[in-house]
Amino acid sequence: MNAQKSPVSKNGTRSKNSLDAHLGDEARFIRSWLENPKIAGAIAPSGRFLARALAQCVNPVAPGPIIELGPGTGPVTQALLARGVPASKLILVEYEKSFCTLLARKFPGVKIVRGDAYRLADTLKGILTEKPSAVVSSLPLLTAPEHDRLMLVRQAMELMGENGRFVQFTYGVKSPVPTHLGDSLHVRIQALAPIWLNIPPARIYIYRPANGPTSFKEPPDVIDELLRKSRRAAQEIRAEFFEARARIVSNGRRAGR
Ligand SMILES: C[S@@+](CC[C@H](N)C(=O)[O-])C[C@H]1O[C@@H](n2cnc3c(N)ncnc32)[C@H](O)[C@@H]1O
Repeated sequence: MNAQKSPVSKNGTRSKNSLDAHLGDEARFIRSWLENPKIAGAIAPSGRFLARALAQCVNPVAPGPIIELGPGTGPVTQALLARGVPASKLILVEYEKSFCTLLARKFPGVKIVRGDAYRLADTLKGILTEKPSAVVSSLPLLTAPEHDRLMLVRQAMELMGENGRFVQFTYGVKSPVPTHLGDSLHVRIQALAPIWLNIPPARIYIYRPANGPTSFKEPPDVIDELLRKSRRAAQEIRAEFFEARARIVSNGRRAGR
């Protein structure tokens, strides 16, 4: 695995260098969004809760590489490495040249392919020696025509075979691959609990071949754990909201006396 220096110092504060690097990523992202909002798809990189939740959806020890689509400045890549995916098993497909250069600098040992993820089979031609076990995508699918989304998932399924899974997040309220297309694709669609601690809140969808295994095989059952964590986070946010509201009401009453 990559030896990444922790961005957070022992006393919990970010070091100046890592803060600069982080601000650099935000700025790069905003620039990319200004230049081409449809391709960037978001104004800021994914937060760590979302990145971690995406990484939890893959099995780091499953045979075969893991493909990440649209890594941008690398928050999901970082989470996948932290999850224990070996750098040598990661293949990143990114369209933006400047992001590819940045990713190569940040993640030595990870394969970076500059190309169009919607033409996945062509883009990965001659690169894959084994069936990938998972495709993790942060592509802004909602900005692409429905047909392109459909073809993307179809290509990914064909590359992975029946044990594969396509993991995608969205800021939308529905599956970015419309559910009525699930049957024509022969995929099962699973929606996980929303990640409230991301701005904006996001939801992860997992697409698996209909004839593939019905359960996730990781020990312990990471999906259950993920659901438990998301529910706990939602409860904490709700509790904080009611506390804040009670404080505001009581301060208002005191001020009115
Ligand atoms: C919403 S951003 C996500 C970036 C990062 N993974 C994150 O979570 O912060 C979408 C990324 O997909 C890339 N992208 C968009 N269309 C693409 C395409 N057709 N092929 C490859 N990458 C693409 C963009 O350049 C951008 O880095």
